[in-house]
Amino acid sequence: MEIVIKDTYEEMSREAAHEVASLLNMKPNAVLGMATGSTPLAVYRELVRMHREESLDFSQVTTFNLDEYVGLPPNHPQSYHYFMHENFFKHVNIARQNIYIPSGNTRNYRAFCEWYEDRIREAGGIDLQILGIGSDGHIAFNEPTSSLSSRTRLKTLARQTIEDNSRFFANADEVPVYAITMGVGTILDARHLVMVANGLHKAKAIAAAVEGPVTHMITASALQLHPSARVYLDNEAASQLQMREYYDWIAHKRPSAPAY
Ligand code: PGA
Repeated sequence: MEIVIKDTYEEMSREAAHEVASLLNMKPNAVLGMATGSTPLAVYRELVRMHREESLDFSQVTTFNLDEYVGLPPNHPQSYHYFMHENFFKHVNIARQNIYIPSGNTRNYRAFCEWYEDRIREAGGIDLQILGIGSDGHIAFNEPTSSLSSRTRLKTLARQTIEDNSRFFANADEVPVYAITMGVGTILDARHLVMVANGLHKAKAIAAAVEGPVTHMITASALQLHPSARVYLDNEAASQLQMREYYDWIAHKRPSAPAY
């Protein structure tokens, strides 16, 4: 796992966006895994800027979103369908038929989840998966005790997540209790993982995920099992890391690192 610490949220988000852009420059038909939540917003803003000002091209890109609430129609302002269209898709030249987001309104969730996994496989797998982290250490909606080999499925949200996300709803009672989410195993299948986290409220979860034991109690700790994972943090989110000095040392020495 590589830890990249920047002074500000904007700076860390720019770096993460540039990583996505360099993948697209190398592989214009890349498959991207998308995340929702407040954290990746600045990554999307920077990608949109690069599309407008530097002709970053999404015409051949396919995307798969991590998760969606069950029961919200796609045009509900808090649905992840709505979020993605408003904050990203409508601003870039992505082909609508290449956008996949789990359905929160289907009659057969089990069949839908299998279909979603099949579409990821058929697309050739996810090249780069963007991830946030919940204050309970979750990735996507893989709440504590999720199997580390889980696949896309229906999940009951933890009270902590409902409380965290109630800031977007009129009150906690309006937050859906169920969601469809990629599993930890689905996420680990991506070729490269890019996690973004900022703010003091994420510091504890980040320390547990990055430096604690691999455990299904902190599903983000599964990143430790991935051969190619990069975690972008601001100073606040990095504030509880014990090995901070080592991460700074690595960054300081990088210009003189041997080619590898
Ligand atoms: P946030 O959500 O970016 O809104 O903090 C992260 C998450 O729950 O995965």
